[in-house]
Amino acid sequence: MNGLFRRKPLAGNGEGNPHESVHGLKRVLSALDLTLLGIGAIIGTGIFVLTGHAAAVQSGPAVVISYLVAGFACTFAALAYAELAAMVGGCGSAYGYSYAAFGELIAWIIGWDLILEYGVSVAAVANGWSGYLNNALTAMGIGLPDALTKGPFADGGGGYVNLPAVIIIMILMVLLIIGVKETARINAAAVVIKLLAVAIFVGVAAFNVDPANWSPFMPHGWFGHVDGRPVGILAGASIVFFAYVGFDAVSTAVEEARNPQRDVPLGIIAALAFCTAIYVIVSALMTGIVPYPTLNVSSPASEALLQIGHSTAAGLVASGVIFGLTTVMLVLYYALTRIVAAISRDGLIPSYFAAINPRTHTPVRTTVLTGVVMAIMAGFLPLGVLAELVNIGTLAAFVLVCGGVIILRRTHPEVHRPFKMPFGELSAVIGALSCSALIAFLPWETHVRFVLWLLVGALIYFGYSKRHSKLAQQPA
Ligand code: ALA
Repeated sequence: MNGLFRRKPLAGNGEGNPHESVHGLKRVLSALDLTLLGIGAIIGTGIFVLTGHAAAVQSGPAVVISYLVAGFACTFAALAYAELAAMVGGCGSAYGYSYAAFGELIAWIIGWDLILEYGVSVAAVANGWSGYLNNALTAMGIGLPDALTKGPFADGGGGYVNLPAVIIIMILMVLLIIGVKETARINAAAVVIKLLAVAIFVGVAAFNVDPANWSPFMPHGWFGHVDGRPVGILAGASIVFFAYVGFDAVSTAVEEARNPQRDVPLGIIAALAFCTAIYVIVSALMTGIVPYPTLNVSSPASEALLQIGHSTAAGLVASGVIFGLTTVMLVLYYALTRIVAAISRDGLIPSYFAAINPRTHTPVRTTVLTGVVMAIMAGFLPLGVLAELVNIGTLAAFVLVCGGVIILRRTHPEVHRPFKMPFGELSAVIGALSCSALIAFLPWETHVRFVLWLLVGALIYFGYSKRHSKLAQQPA
């Protein structure tokens, strides 16, 4: 038991030098930058790709309710994140909070979980990106064959490798190694393009709705099974939850925020509220313009527009989505390297991973290693499997973040909380319960894969991290 629950002390984010964080990062991001960072990481494969699958297979047109259910669970998690982001110092993110709240073992589990969340998300989004790219290439008459756009385990017959997905990850890897200066500005520009794609979709779809497409609205009700797999609105919610993944990435930017205690909670909540509204509108329109069973394709937003005869709009939306998905990958990939570096600085994985290359000022080793692993996953595994794995990892982290609020309110009632979850601990309990419920509606294979991931994590912790932890080397 010794050491498993050693905790890091709390350190206020706003303390010390207002222009620079302890690790020498510059405090340059405003609330608007943080919101845009959030939107950059959030809107992506979930709404543009998985909506089609969730509507066709799980929820039917009631996918819009699935989005509301997933958004409900995320709201409580976001409030919990906001409270902790404002009060706990050091590296943001659930990993940092839980090191202070629960101690080292749980922090390691969450950190290990976040590596899964961000790493597998990038691979999953690369799959979605590849779908839209190939759609655009096909429209130009130079589409790639299935053998080069599908991994061997893809639904409905596989190919050899999803080559575009591998290539985009390699390109991002090079970008992140060179050092993405002005990332926030590039991201803001890309977010505008992504939102234009959403606006074009909404503008065209809104005038082409046929209410007959919304019937039957709930073909599988709230919950059921087809061929042993969970279906219905709640199973749909546990899939489209993927669309919300990324709002927590804002919390990894705590050290670069100008006024973290005010702006990080604001950025997280504003980004989440905005994206929820977009998801409800887009999913309602997508299922309103074409029959939902036709949406189970790799680029449903542009396919739906094509089906109703708007090929120009379909092309514009596809281009915007290709651009938009690139920012999602960029922000999540960046967040992944941050988390790995933070865990490595704490000694739980070798310091090799925290090394910053003196020439590029970026963590080159971590970027290359994670890039290669993600490219292999993206090339060979199908989107559905990857997305479900991301969801279970993220939901588990959210449950623990909600738990962290409760524990810290009890163990550290005296610490100043610039932002507090409304309705006290009740909100945290609702958050933990609703995220746990969504975990329960994921397929059992996903549960098994997740348990295997955790077991590997436990082996690393007990085999290496526990002894090498920086906290272990300090007097208690
Ligand atoms: N929320 C992100 C997406 O949907 C991960 O692509």
